[in-house]
Amino acid sequence: MKILFLNGPNLNLLGSREPDKYGTLTLKDIENFVKLEADKLNVEVEFYQTNIEGELVNKVQESKGKYDGIVINPAAYTHTSVAIRDAILAVEIPTVEIHISNIHKREEFRTNSMTAPACIGQITGFGAFSYKLGLIAVTDYIKSFEQD
Ligand code: DQA
Repeated sequence: MKILFLNGPNLNLLGSREPDKYGTLTLKDIENFVKLEADKLNVEVEFYQTNIEGELVNKVQESKGKYDGIVINPAAYTHTSVAIRDAILAVEIPTVEIHISNIHKREEFRTNSMTAPACIGQITGFGAFSYKLGLIAVTDYIKSFEQD
């Protein structure tokens, strides 16, 4: 099983970016511990980060036939991107939305997710651990269909 982790704008700055909200781990640190969990689950994972909305759309589109599942932190595009939402709906790949902070506990504009309705579900507010939960959630979901 292959899972793609997509990361949106400013997540390349994790570690130094607003550590009170996003913690002190870098995206590379997160990738490393997610890969340890992936080994235990016997799953392959790939990480990708971009600050550009269209590149996230391209990556989702290109995932068809290449990945069994997607875990996405669309970052600020969560709240605005019809294009990413439509791409997730178009490819029909099981996708879990994740956030480091609890977007429902922050500013009003962050409480709405444009992308979550296209996903299986949303994991939000568990810090970097949201990434690991995202991996467990998407693999479990895919496996439950494989058994049917
Ligand atoms: C975020 C929450 C978003 O509102 C914000 O724009 C981010 C990070 C999170 O992981 O908590 O960049 O997606």
